[in-house]
Amino acid sequence: MKKKPKYIKVDDLLKMLKDGDKIVGGMAANEPQLTISQLHRAFDDYGLNSLEFTNCLGIRQDSPIYTEKYKDKIEISSWFYDPAIRKAHGNGNASFIPNYLHYAHTKRFQRVKYDYFISAASMPDEHGFISLSTSNVYEKAAIKNAKVTVLEINPNFPRTFGDVEVHISEIDYLIETDYPCPTLPDIPLNEKDIAIGKLIAERIEDGSSIQLGIGGIPNAVAEQLKGKKDLGIHTEMFTSSMVDLIECGAVTGKKKKLYPGKHVAAFAFGNQKLYDFINNNPSVLILDGAWVNDPYVIGQNDNQVSINAALEVSLDGQVASESIGTRQFSGAGGQVDTAVGAQNSKGGKSFITLYSTAMVRNPETGVRELKSKIVPYITPGGAVTLSRADVDNVVTEYGIAELRGTTLKERAIELIKIAHPDFREELFNEGVSIGILSERDRPKLTKHFKK
Ligand code: COA
Repeated sequence: MKKKPKYIKVDDLLKMLKDGDKIVGGMAANEPQLTISQLHRAFDDYGLNSLEFTNCLGIRQDSPIYTEKYKDKIEISSWFYDPAIRKAHGNGNASFIPNYLHYAHTKRFQRVKYDYFISAASMPDEHGFISLSTSNVYEKAAIKNAKVTVLEINPNFPRTFGDVEVHISEIDYLIETDYPCPTLPDIPLNEKDIAIGKLIAERIEDGSSIQLGIGGIPNAVAEQLKGKKDLGIHTEMFTSSMVDLIECGAVTGKKKKLYPGKHVAAFAFGNQKLYDFINNNPSVLILDGAWVNDPYVIGQNDNQVSINAALEVSLDGQVASESIGTRQFSGAGGQVDTAVGAQNSKGGKSFITLYSTAMVRNPETGVRELKSKIVPYITPGGAVTLSRADVDNVVTEYGIAELRGTTLKERAIELIKIAHPDFREELFNEGVSIGILSERDRPKLTKHFKK
């Protein structure tokens, strides 16, 4: 006989926890908001002294567990840092799990057996199936890994399809909740976003399959794709802008080799319109992140295009997208998976996007100054996300550097051309001083230097 899950309240869960328990939470919109907002009470009200907690792209930034008060009680680890974990990192009780997203759960779960997996989910249907709703980056695998699964079932969460369906008999405890499915604000596009979007859109052929990463620029690209035909979606993150592309007819999915006509993703995170679109919609398949993001799988679609943002690119083409110097900022997510996957695809292309500059506080003067994001070398201590062997196109508001197959010298020249004009000559001089360039190359760039 199939076992029946027990309906409990969040306090029942807090009481159940034991010192040293390891918890893994659902990611992004699947984060179990009620539990995360109350978890500190396991210490305050139920006398617990220690817990370990793993998440990915957390959104419940206001949870007390991230504050200094609980730094000696909870050890946090994450596949993708968010602002709250960046702060907790400063308190000494948070650490990053380096990963390529398609290996995230397979590798971590080989090492760690979790006591609890806790996630948001949709309501059970009449057959007793619950949909893991917005994410299967690692959630279904976490049910197998964890000793106990607790789902915060919620009528506001979309019921999706793909590989997200679980029967209630596989679940230990259900907590009924009704908070809204968390949304990601739509970021208004600026002139730089639009310039970058246009440069990339010009290079995307009708019939291509697209992946868009996280951040403002990938969304700007989507805006510029509205006039295309028969695009397809094979992406880690299903975004709000993809819904607009489907609705305007630019995306049909007809030309895809994998699941033609279906929109394939590992998770969905965006606005309410996105959640309304994916709800009960069999054209959207939320599949296991280990499969969706496998570069071999991605490469099976022709003309696969990967578009992701970065924080720094060095003159030799190394891409830092997850840290600024020694400061862990976010995570690699699926950047490498999709950039490599796109290059495995016949006619595929990867684009790494970044503004040419950032405003950064000078640690000595405290004044915010303009800094080039094209740099002679990655800021010391910084993690290289995409290696120089895997980089393809790099895009700023000044143009595209096509780096595939280039020498170090050729790529340094192409990258300086798309750097902010204020920094081009300085970058050239630094390129010479570190030996990537030589004075013989100066004539190739002088017309690009600021007069
Ligand atoms: N040096 C110092 N600070 C920098 C910087 C640099 N080189 N580049 C950016 N910053 C600062 C910005 O000024 C900004 O600061 P603010 O918040 O005070 O304004 C902040 O860092 C964020 O930069 P921004 O360019 O606005 O980030 P974004 O929201 O567009 O995200 C990434 C960009 C790279 C962080 C994000 O895309 C990411 O994490 N990528 C890796 C994962 C990935 O690509 N996944 C793909 C599959 S989903």
